[in-house]
Amino acid sequence: MTQTTIAKILHYTTTQATSPADIERQMEKDGVLVYSLIFLLIPLVYILLRKNKRETHKRAKLPSGSMGWPFIEETLQIFYILLRRNEGEPHKKTQLPPGSMGWPYIGETLQLYTQDPSVFFATKQKRYGEIFKTNILGCPCVMLASPEAARFVLLTQAQLFKPTYPNSKESLIGPSALFFHQGDYHIRLRKLVQGSLYPETIRNLVPNIEAIAVSALDSWTGGHVVNTFSEMKKFSFEVGILAIFGDLEARYREELKKNYNILDKGYNSFPINILGTPYKKALLARKRLTKILSEIICEKKEKRLPEKELLGCLLNSKDDKGEILTEDQIADNIIGVLFAAQDTTASVMTWILKYLHDNPKLLEAVKAEQQAIYQSNDKGNRPLTWTQTKNMPITYKVVLETLRMASIISFTFREAVADVEYKGYLIPKGWKVMPLFRNIHHNPEFFTDPQKFDPSRFEVAPKPNTFMPFGCGVHACPGNELAKQEMLIMTHHLVTKFRWEVVGYESGIQYFPFPVPLHGLPARFWKESAN
Ligand code: HEM
Repeated sequence: MTQTTIAKILHYTTTQATSPADIERQMEKDGVLVYSLIFLLIPLVYILLRKNKRETHKRAKLPSGSMGWPFIEETLQIFYILLRRNEGEPHKKTQLPPGSMGWPYIGETLQLYTQDPSVFFATKQKRYGEIFKTNILGCPCVMLASPEAARFVLLTQAQLFKPTYPNSKESLIGPSALFFHQGDYHIRLRKLVQGSLYPETIRNLVPNIEAIAVSALDSWTGGHVVNTFSEMKKFSFEVGILAIFGDLEARYREELKKNYNILDKGYNSFPINILGTPYKKALLARKRLTKILSEIICEKKEKRLPEKELLGCLLNSKDDKGEILTEDQIADNIIGVLFAAQDTTASVMTWILKYLHDNPKLLEAVKAEQQAIYQSNDKGNRPLTWTQTKNMPITYKVVLETLRMASIISFTFREAVADVEYKGYLIPKGWKVMPLFRNIHHNPEFFTDPQKFDPSRFEVAPKPNTFMPFGCGVHACPGNELAKQEMLIMTHHLVTKFRWEVVGYESGIQYFPFPVPLHGLPARFWKESAN
């Protein structure tokens, strides 16, 4: 499509010219004028925005960038709408949501990734309201910052929005992992994953989770500096392995850990498929993981044990036609669950440590609650029970408030599978749709003084659909019970037997890509004498 043609079509809607020849001439003139303006303004806007960026984002990690080319993007959008009108589409009254699309291809990606995403979203929400458009990583997106809108996309009209992930990420996890799917396959896999994570199953894991927590904490003591987030990742990985395989030989655990770590590094790197890059290394590690999983599957099949852990559920599953899952489907879902379970839980636990450290009074209250349980368990000589973990009201509220404050999953992505109308706005087919959990969790309308860490706010249940740390609807987190158990058990042992000190005075947030306290919260841990 040439620039002149775009300008012509644009002009048809605005000109008052009377004859076709007039229109034609006028269109030619204005087409030149519009694009002359665009090309004159681009350098000016670029310079101004660079200046602005230098001043406001001194700590940005990515190369500097600019605010982009709103004119061309807006032009293309208007053109898009006009084309649809010409096709006779039934959207005469609907319009795209307000907002800016940034640069072609990269849109507003740099703005999103070089500043605190909360600031990015909050500024947009303030300016445009609860629904606005933007462009991230070359994809036009509609962002939704209200509970009703999130519910619309994730629950009530979920069939109109499919999950969407970049191909590079899908290749690393495995295309058959449940969270890339919707429909029958997703329902089947979800039942299996959910079944292996039901409270009845998790309750049997409490002693093992406790053993993993104690062993992790013991390895941190002695006063050396520990990267809390990295250590929490090791802990949540071990718990993930436990939930997936139950008992697993140490050699398999080590092999899985080694290769999964390579995969994890590559997942967050730039996806260049060239030998030596972290992404390529991750792809190779993924192949090795398939091989290791295949060996484990082979062994488990031979034993034919009716197991409740995820691998057992996946192996024993048959669909309506009696078909079993392929090894690739099993492997993709195991890697998928490990992936969903590890960084999420680890970053929330790191935040719990940070918030407790920063709020000494609260720490004392949590300590008192946990000490009472510790004493009733004969000073820790008897293991924690499921019932005890379900009766930790103060600690539980700390967990909830951490989930709200940190909102480690700031938003999620879906893609519209058809043109969808929401509150008079058009969400065109193929556009990404992002419910913004963080904005909802930080909206003063739903959570008074939202920047304050205040677990007591959870003495009253939040308004419906305003608290979604584990998502909502058909893809909501099936691992939420396990995650909460990990956090409660870890906190119990941490506050009853250890004290810790955060190292350094710098505070801030880093994105891995989940938000984590700066540098992963370096800290020193000491074991307190038993009392
Ligand atoms: C604090 C820790 C966790 C948080 C905050 C969290 C959050 C979430 C959220 C928000 C979603 C929905 C994403 C979407 O709708 O696009 C999700 C999905 C999922 N989570 Fe979690 N999660 C956590 C821990 C876990 C754990 C421990 C497991 C497994 C053991 C797990 C397994 C999954 C799976 C498999 C899905 C995909 C479900 C589906 O597509 O049907 N998560 N999680």
